[in-house]
Amino acid sequence: MDPEEFRRHGHQLVDWMADYLSGVSALPVMPDIRPGEIRRLLPTSAPSQGEAFTALFDDFRELIVPGMTHWNHPGWHAYFPGNNSPPSILGEMLTATMGAQCMSWVTSPAATELEQVVMDWLRQMIGLPGDYVGVIQDTASTATLVALLSAREHATKGVSGRAGMVAGPKLAVYASLEAHSSVDKGVKLAGYGLDQLRRIPGDAAFALDPVALERAIEADLAAGITPACVVASIGTTSSTAVDPVPAIAALCRRHRVWLHVDAAYAGAAAIVPELRGYFAGMDAADSIVLNPHKWLLTNFDCTAYYVRDRDALLAAFSLTPEYLRTAHDAEVVNYRDWGIQLGRRFRALKLWFVIRSYGVEGLQAVIRRHVALAAELARWVDDADDFERMAPVPFGLVCFRYKPAGKPEDELDALNERLLRAINASGRVFLTHTRLAGRYTIRLVIGQRDTERRHVEAAWRIIREAAAEL
Ligand SMILES: Cc1ncc(COP(=O)(O)O)c(C=O)c1O
Repeated sequence: MDPEEFRRHGHQLVDWMADYLSGVSALPVMPDIRPGEIRRLLPTSAPSQGEAFTALFDDFRELIVPGMTHWNHPGWHAYFPGNNSPPSILGEMLTATMGAQCMSWVTSPAATELEQVVMDWLRQMIGLPGDYVGVIQDTASTATLVALLSAREHATKGVSGRAGMVAGPKLAVYASLEAHSSVDKGVKLAGYGLDQLRRIPGDAAFALDPVALERAIEADLAAGITPACVVASIGTTSSTAVDPVPAIAALCRRHRVWLHVDAAYAGAAAIVPELRGYFAGMDAADSIVLNPHKWLLTNFDCTAYYVRDRDALLAAFSLTPEYLRTAHDAEVVNYRDWGIQLGRRFRALKLWFVIRSYGVEGLQAVIRRHVALAAELARWVDDADDFERMAPVPFGLVCFRYKPAGKPEDELDALNERLLRAINASGRVFLTHTRLAGRYTIRLVIGQRDTERRHVEAAWRIIREAAAEL
């Protein structure tokens, strides 16, 4: 494809993108597709000769788009949002165009220095003190693995990194029963062993109980096991519960345990001053993760990872083979030393575009709108005799179940499963579920960029009508 063809097709694509973004609400949120259906439509081996771009684009529109789930849909109420926005998409296009691999300062000085600037802007936006430094990771799962590896290095004073885990003391990690599964995965991958993860029970609002945490830490110490890391959640996945971070931080300080705060979804809300209370104690963490790719209108993937002690991070990850040495190493940041991977995408560009396009106030307004709509929906649920709210609503997630009068408890799980299937069959909204206190619970997240009051009203109407028809 020569530059002129590229220009022509690029214009066609941008026209398609603009139409898609403005028309996505008319599409079903979820495709009605059986497993294997898309694959059967595609050739089983690669073409031996190059094809015209028009053929590729036609197949994209006709074969691929109908099989996509539309995360951009204002009826997106599933999982957590995976937002993008026009400035972020344009930033991604430029990142792809530059094609830079940003492992070291020298491999693209502007990419490294922009990442430093943007991470510092975001640090200020979420109210973290100036001694935190940030780096963009691909996902919160990776960031939590990085935290667990740093904590291991910290607890073993580097012994594990030099001689393997056999040489180090036995270590333990603590997280609430509701902490995300990336903690289990990280504990496994970082070599602690899954049996060294202590799942600490929570209170009635699903937040970690610090008294139980203290008991678990003391039991491990008495057994000769070294407490290495506590993962505190601000905004759990099931219900957006907020762990009592100040009390947890005090325990971590007393026992010299690494404190990692997982605010993957909710962290974006820290940019709103009146929501900052939920983030009390976060400024005592050793590491923090939040995902601009969830609630800050930035294309997946883009995870912000903050640490207070940059040297501890470098101690765990820095490694410079001769072929990567440069004359500037002593005076620059080489982000390859701030995480697991060597090669890095230029992710700071899209986040920079988003923050500059919306401004801090524009982003605050989006989050305020979602939080206010969730509070309103929570009131509607509370006011409905046949629905039960299952958890507090600090951010944009409402957890509820259908509980018609006279239905015995042991039939409610199956009833709500059927209800969720009926709601999603409408094609106009997409909701997911979890279990809270063992009960099947429907989750409705309000966090998609374009979701407004009328969409939430429509979702609530669909839910009530589907319940009435059960
Ligand atoms: C609280 C929490 N932590 C971590 C994750 C993992 O995020 P990622 O997909 O960026 O790895 C999620 C995903 O929803 C989450 O809700």
